[in-house]
Amino acid sequence: IEKTYSMLKPDAVRNRHVGEIIARIERSGLTIERMELGMVTPEQAAANYAEHEGKPFYNGLIEYITSGPVVKMVVSGEGAVKKMRTLMGATNPAEAAPGTIRGDFGLIMDENVIHGSDSPESAEREIGVFFGA
Ligand code: GTP
Ligand code: MG
Repeated sequence: IEKTYSMLKPDAVRNRHVGEIIARIERSGLTIERMELGMVTPEQAAANYAEHEGKPFYNGLIEYITSGPVVKMVVSGEGAVKKMRTLMGATNPAEAAPGTIRGDFGLIMDENVIHGSDSPESAEREIGVFFGA
């Protein structure tokens, strides 16, 4: 069964949206297999966002993701990667459709509420980074 890595980012925790977001994930039929509240270490942040190193928004991105506790999750189900991305909506909350998590709980690109792996391969790597192999 397919697994994905999802993470409720620091703004989601700060703004008290954790319960509502988890309810949406559960209602979609996906299964939460593992879940942990805690900080992202600078090492984990660098590993997770290696593809963006050198881009103008990189430093801000690392600062943001390490700025407060996040909720780290392994979510499973048929087509879990794509299903989570659909629930999340577009990367930029300003462009995310109403009814999506980013559309409803986010305002700006720099604080976009939630992360979800973009492929089963990314999921495996990210689960390793955040929960250990
Ligand atoms: P994640 O689930 O967080 O990986 O988002 P994504 O897969 O929808 O987007 P992507 O992996 O391309 O980018 C990772 C994160 O970098 C995004 O969630 C944004 O917070 C940030 N980001 C990406 N592109 C930009 C940009 O052009 N400007 C800014 N400010 N942030 C960006
Ligand atoms: Mg991504």
